[in-house]
Amino acid sequence: MRELNEAVKFLEKQYQQVPQVGIVLGSGLGNFTEEIAVEKEVAYEDIPHFPVSTVEGHKSKLIFGKLSGKTVVAMAGRFHYYEGYSAADIIFPIRVMKLLGVQTLLLSNAAGTVNPNHQVGDIMIIKDHISFFTPNPLIGKNIAELGTRFPDMSEPYKLHLIEKAKAIALAHNFDVKEGVYVAVTGPTFETRAEYNFIKVIGADVVGMSTVQECIAANHAGMEVFAMSVVTDIGMIEHHNTITHEEVLAAAKAAEPKLATIFKELVAAI
Ligand code: HPA
Repeated sequence: MRELNEAVKFLEKQYQQVPQVGIVLGSGLGNFTEEIAVEKEVAYEDIPHFPVSTVEGHKSKLIFGKLSGKTVVAMAGRFHYYEGYSAADIIFPIRVMKLLGVQTLLLSNAAGTVNPNHQVGDIMIIKDHISFFTPNPLIGKNIAELGTRFPDMSEPYKLHLIEKAKAIALAHNFDVKEGVYVAVTGPTFETRAEYNFIKVIGADVVGMSTVQECIAANHAGMEVFAMSVVTDIGMIEHHNTITHEEVLAAAKAAEPKLATIFKELVAAI
């Protein structure tokens, strides 16, 4: 808690307004920050106790400003377990956002699909997740100031935000899918057997982020909305290979749809 408080105090000196919405952008989706009327940028490396992002395609700063008339804070670049960060590191920025005043957290990611009804470039609204393959970030002493020891996870992604997002997509005449995200550690993409396993256990897409952040946000009482961009097909019958470059390119191509949903969702919050 001391580290969190130091980071929050530092940021409150840098930017005096209270952000209501927090935004975390996934691989290839960082350009969304251009939608924000930036009022202050703070490099991660300048924030006390903040981890620093290393993966290609990720910038490394907190962006404060206005989006759709609301005060927001966005992470350009997030922290992944495969980079070697602990689960506690990964959720540190989420907890900082909460303590800065953020009530609603919007998450995005690139993901591989195991659902035959999905295509590369699809947007999938995450309605639920499976987190059994990455450490639960709440393991360890509970920070009671943030939340309860045993958080309820019956609605990890808020239904009223999902309904709004679906209505936005409908109004703009584009299709959105809805489904279950499973988080894995990476950094390898999955073997065909693993993709098949992911399908069998009830997931639609697989990725290397989001779930730990969602858990921390739920613990702290924030409302979460999350979307995946389908960047690759992970199915046994597809004899494809997958590269990070392809993932980034597919995410980038789908970004306008994601941007529309985020912008209008923020307006409606
Ligand atoms: N698997 C895991 N993570 C991913 C994938 C995938 O196929 N695509 C983008 N992130």
